[in-house]
Amino acid sequence: MESYYVTTPIYYVNARPHLGHAYSTLVADSLVRMHRLLGEEAFFVTGSDEHGDKIVQAAEKNKLQVKDFVDGISSQFRELWPRLGIDGFRFSRTTDPAHEKIVQEMLQKVYDAGDIYFGEFSGHYCYGCERFYTEKELEDGCCPQHKTRPELISEKNYFFRMSKYLPWLKEYLLEHPDFIRPERYRSEALGMLEAGALEDLCISRPKSRLTWGIDLPFDSNYVCYVWFDALLTYISALGGPAGQDFARYWPGEHLVAKDILKPHAIFWPVMLKSLGLPLYRHLNVHGYWLSKDTKMSKSLGNIVEPQAMMEKYGQDAFRYYLFREMHFGSDANFSEDAMIVRINSDLANDLGNLFSRVLSMTAKYFSSIVPKPASKLEQDKNIVDLCEHAMQNYVQLMHAIRSAEALEALWELIRALNKYVDSEAPWALFKAQETERLATVMYVLLACMRKIAICLWPVMPKASVLMLSQLGQEADEQTAPVANIRNEISCFGGLEAGTKLAEKSNIFPRIQR
Ligand code: MSP
Repeated sequence: MESYYVTTPIYYVNARPHLGHAYSTLVADSLVRMHRLLGEEAFFVTGSDEHGDKIVQAAEKNKLQVKDFVDGISSQFRELWPRLGIDGFRFSRTTDPAHEKIVQEMLQKVYDAGDIYFGEFSGHYCYGCERFYTEKELEDGCCPQHKTRPELISEKNYFFRMSKYLPWLKEYLLEHPDFIRPERYRSEALGMLEAGALEDLCISRPKSRLTWGIDLPFDSNYVCYVWFDALLTYISALGGPAGQDFARYWPGEHLVAKDILKPHAIFWPVMLKSLGLPLYRHLNVHGYWLSKDTKMSKSLGNIVEPQAMMEKYGQDAFRYYLFREMHFGSDANFSEDAMIVRINSDLANDLGNLFSRVLSMTAKYFSSIVPKPASKLEQDKNIVDLCEHAMQNYVQLMHAIRSAEALEALWELIRALNKYVDSEAPWALFKAQETERLATVMYVLLACMRKIAICLWPVMPKASVLMLSQLGQEADEQTAPVANIRNEISCFGGLEAGTKLAEKSNIFPRIQR
């Protein structure tokens, strides 16, 4: 059985989870579900990044011991995900002793290989980013991300010989055009390499300044820099390079937003290279969720609470909107008005209506039993072809993390099915007692609806299960509804005549404003 492994960023626990975190985690969930639908063994790693200055400062602000503070926020993340229908993940914390042990082993390995040295350093330190900036990287003397003036700090520290590997990395990015995708982010990474501002990476913090971190195995006066620690989660969650899961799942896929392109596009591949480990498969970079055209962030007070949205609109509708609205790689605006429009048009009018009409007609004409189809006419064959084509596109696009286009492809079929109901007019066939023809039309509709419900399992697991159960199919939110969706694409049918169906359906009620 093929295996698939994907990761989300390991979120900082200095603030509560918001829509941005939820989105990355939902994408990972949908990918894992998609790969399970393809018959693969798939899971993802998410978790919490708990060391460093930023966290200590947040704990102090909340008047809590650091450990109590990180335990509290970390569980908020862990507990939120299942409420959003997110399943199939391993939750990793950078304060897990097993992770800390692997970080120390990896540090020692890099040190023994001669890629870490001790040196004096003075530089511009941004507390927000928890890193030093070179003169060239600053914008008007300020951190490009936080727009604050970094502090000039001079101290002795350990350095990772990153610069030694940068020419190799540049070659690698040029030779592997889809290593970082979409393309604009590969160009951005190449731009960083070409700008010449990258130097060796300072990977330690003296304990005189910070104790909340992992001890360097070769010098207990220092703790490890948070990024070196956090990035290693991607392999410590597999038990480290010697672990069984590592052999089975590595190399994996990474999912991040563009804010953390640099550590993932530059630091991480170089760390893996120095450790002699295979590089990840792809770095998949998405844009920001904006609120009124500005990035959502706690400091700006424009946060969207995923839990509140889900309670108000339902888990499926909320997930659908996020997957349909954001084109992976670009920014998207979050708007409740736009979400209501989508729910009413795509879910209530198109999909909900199809289920409701077809199930109530089957109840009336065939006592809710799937009829046996007779031979197909041209218009039926067209629908069957469209179904195959839409599913093919959908699977391919979801696989490529292009959910907005994937859903559009599926909705073409849903809209065509509603038109087919209008043009074939089952009520007229019933009236004219054309039972064979009526059976064929109803069968074509029901069989396509089953395929649609299967396709939607990665996007709306709850609704998919509900639709499948209304169609007399066994399904649950944790197990893929079919062994391999590829077998469903080119063979029409899959719904047995004689199956008992639900009498009515109202899966997506309209939202009144
Ligand atoms: N701890 C680091 C990551 C270490 S990974 C080894 C970190 N944490 S974070 O809490 O700041 O999370 C950043 C990530 O959260 C982004 O890369 C993205 O996945 C998600 N998002 C946070 N805000 C976002 C938006 N407004 N829009 C989309 N996603 C964003 O960086």
